[in-house]
Amino acid sequence: MERLDKRLAATGKWSRKEARELIRAGRAAVDGQVCRTPEQKVGEEDAVTVDGVPIGPQGPVYLMLNKPAGVVSSTAEPGERTVLDLLGEEYQNLGIFPAGRLDKDTEGLLLLTNDGPLAHRLLSPKRHVDKVYYLEVDGALDQDDVEAVRAGVVLGDGYTCLPGELELLSSQSARITIHEGKYHQIKRMLAARGKPVTYLKRVRFGPLELDESLPKGAYRQLNDRELKGIFSQ
Ligand code: URA
Repeated sequence: MERLDKRLAATGKWSRKEARELIRAGRAAVDGQVCRTPEQKVGEEDAVTVDGVPIGPQGPVYLMLNKPAGVVSSTAEPGERTVLDLLGEEYQNLGIFPAGRLDKDTEGLLLLTNDGPLAHRLLSPKRHVDKVYYLEVDGALDQDDVEAVRAGVVLGDGYTCLPGELELLSSQSARITIHEGKYHQIKRMLAARGKPVTYLKRVRFGPLELDESLPKGAYRQLNDRELKGIFSQ
């Protein structure tokens, strides 16, 4: 058993003083009951939350996954392998979910967390968090595509995308930056240009850069610099 304020401070997210203050402010709960007593003793098995976010043995969890093709970005889908199936036993049952979605055949950076408020902030359409993708197409990319993306591509359904940036790497590959996240957005943008996407990989999400040393399907906890980055968005 250890004190509640000590348990919170052990996550590294708050100092002992900040932990005492947030507990007194009624933001912490033990087994679903608000607890305003920093000295309250809690055991390993007690479910502790702050602002409704579970504080597991290692605090709230923030993982960077290099998503492989062939898995879906949801927590459960009948007949499908999900990104959660890629996680080890220690990350099961902590309420982790993907912050955002990548299509089943899209690879690359996906943030997995059980911090609902943070995910909500990062995904809010108002914040226009940048997303950067590497893509390959069937067809030849050219300067007209660069300009069309800069101006805002009009999708098949008539929606005009926010201006983005297309940086050509070869006639069939590019990096694209978008500032919104509509359903199948990149594929629909390139389809509207008559150059269907044949490969798509997300390489950046806001301040998070894909760690290219992570093999496909592998994940790791965010480091302090990355955590600071996502909390300052
Ligand atoms: N745009 C797409 O078309 N697919 C993705 O997975 C992400 C962005």
